[in-house]
Amino acid sequence: MNVRVLLVLVSCALSVVTGLVVARGGVGTTTARQRPLIGLSMDTLKEERWQVDRDLFTAKVQAAGADVLVQSANSNDAVQLQNIESLITQKVDALVIIPHDGAAMAKAVNLAHQAGIPVLSYDRLITGCDLDLYLTFDNVKVGELQAKFLADRIPQGGKLRLIRIYGAKTDNNAKLFKQGQDNILNPLIAAGKVEVLFEDWAEDWKPENAKKITNAAITKIGPNFDAILASNDGTAGGAIQALTEEGLAGKIIVTGQDADLAACQRIAQGTQAMTVYKPIQTIANQAAELALKLARRQPVIARDAIANGKIDVPSVLLGIVSVTKDNLRDTVVKDGFRKESDVFQ
Ligand code: BGC
Repeated sequence: MNVRVLLVLVSCALSVVTGLVVARGGVGTTTARQRPLIGLSMDTLKEERWQVDRDLFTAKVQAAGADVLVQSANSNDAVQLQNIESLITQKVDALVIIPHDGAAMAKAVNLAHQAGIPVLSYDRLITGCDLDLYLTFDNVKVGELQAKFLADRIPQGGKLRLIRIYGAKTDNNAKLFKQGQDNILNPLIAAGKVEVLFEDWAEDWKPENAKKITNAAITKIGPNFDAILASNDGTAGGAIQALTEEGLAGKIIVTGQDADLAACQRIAQGTQAMTVYKPIQTIANQAAELALKLARRQPVIARDAIANGKIDVPSVLLGIVSVTKDNLRDTVVKDGFRKESDVFQ
């Protein structure tokens, strides 16, 4: 950690001990309640992974003797802000936010701080504010694993013709996934080993938007491509629907992320080539533990710091795994994340 980071952190009233960033919860009053109350504000519950996040997080907080209030905003910034205002009014001791729009939710963090409530940004970064803590996976690495998988499949002496489907522009993670993909692909593009024939951003990460992008790509370039670099399993699913309609499913390499059950099944069947497994149990459990520490105004240790446009946010980054047909059993099944009988039908 460099001196600038240290100074920024110190100026944000955070203390640093032997190279570790120690985030202290806000200075708000402790409530008269016996059990801490945590507010969880979610962008959406439409994708499978977020339902798992909610259930595991809630179970862990409750097992630790605290309570949770959950709100979901259905991908609407105004609704998410209202949800958070309501959680603040209900005097939660700490807020955990999965933002729909990372920039728009800076306002919510400011409101929480005015009420003395510390905020943990969960998986997606909230930008442009004095965020207390950020817990996520290594998102650049996710993009690198996706692109590396494709780089390993460039035909001998030839080139890989690619369609790229990015995530929601409002989600900072989508930009980090692209950054990781670019790290691997740009030199290959420059060397003529990869050619990007079509690319677009899938608004709100919706599978139907990914399907439209794939349809538009096929209309423009025909069936003459080798792979679709889809940034998550939802968008992979949309792309594969379009491929199925064209009789191309299973012939085109498709990437993903999240190890959604439907994606694991597609990998077992051969219509999707890979996904990235991000152990939701780990992020949900750690978020619960960290949120409880913030709620109890106990110090938190964060080894990383990620710039959010205003400060270097004390951050905890979790590991990820690339999953293909070859290691489905050794990863998601072995970990208990998926049942073998559900994946291999
Ligand atoms: C998450 C992904 C998820 C995507 C769409 C991203 O912020 O990191 O796991 O697939 O949002 O919900």
